[in-house]
Amino acid sequence: MAIHWYPSHMAKAEKALRAIIPQVDVLIEVVDARLPRSSSNPVLAKVSKGKPRIIALNKADLADPAITKAWIAALEGGADSTPRKVVAIEATNSKMAKSLFALARQLAPLRNSPVKPLRLMVAGIPNVGKSTLINALAGRKIANVGDEPGVTKGQQRIRLEPSLYLLDTPGLLWPKIHDEDSGYRLAASGAIRDTSMEESDVARFAILFLVEKYGKRVKERYGLSDLNGDWKELLLAIGRRRGCLVAGGGVEINKVAQLLLKELRGGELGRISFESPGD
Ligand code: G4P
Repeated sequence: MAIHWYPSHMAKAEKALRAIIPQVDVLIEVVDARLPRSSSNPVLAKVSKGKPRIIALNKADLADPAITKAWIAALEGGADSTPRKVVAIEATNSKMAKSLFALARQLAPLRNSPVKPLRLMVAGIPNVGKSTLINALAGRKIANVGDEPGVTKGQQRIRLEPSLYLLDTPGLLWPKIHDEDSGYRLAASGAIRDTSMEESDVARFAILFLVEKYGKRVKERYGLSDLNGDWKELLLAIGRRRGCLVAGGGVEINKVAQLLLKELRGGELGRISFESPGD
């Protein structure tokens, strides 16, 4: 799996998080609702053990609602007794984003005065929607934070209310690739990019997954009468339907791969979850 999170980055990220966690009352861990397991990182749980947290299943608008519901139930149970709230959100919806404040207050009811303000921090792997969420919570665009795992040096608190503060940069984690499929899920959803994974490999994973779990939608979207054949035959059939052709009339498989992944990531195949709690 060619995803390069060097050990030095990881150590730096862990150290930075460890240093900042004592100054945080409630952590908002953002994961992608379509793949909550693969888009979380166990290091966060390790460095923030016992710290009350909100697990925000973001991009819920793109995920399969029934599976999201199952994830909420599974994560609420949790493996440890850390106080938590699990919620499905769309960070692009500011009202939904701001509903996290009430949850945070429930988790830390004693942090409710200017002397003892409630201090929040957003954390998660790249592309799960941390910046979008910070902007929504702050009600304005906060300067970009870059994508170095860790917490940037210039970190500041934004005062949102007299008794409510938010760190202006998120705790950045790296994706932990549990296994090969987990890497493919992250790539197929768009959570990781710029890896040296071949697009056609990711598309192979995506079409096989879609045929298994969401076959009807594939048929409808691409006007296919059946889903017989191996992954390449299926991509070729989609390519023919969509005109992903090279001069001479053959199908250009890379073009089909790009099209499929773009449509999958953009929600054009409907709301799709890449993993379920029981998997
Ligand atoms: P990050 O800080 O965790 O790295 O993520 P960021 O906020 O930059 O969000 C990554 C992409 O996800 C952005 O798309 C953002 O608009 C999108 N996004 C965030 N929250 C939601 C949500 O609730 N629903 C949906 N559908 N999308 C969401 P982008 O700006 O278009 O960037 P790109 O994906 O084209 O690069």
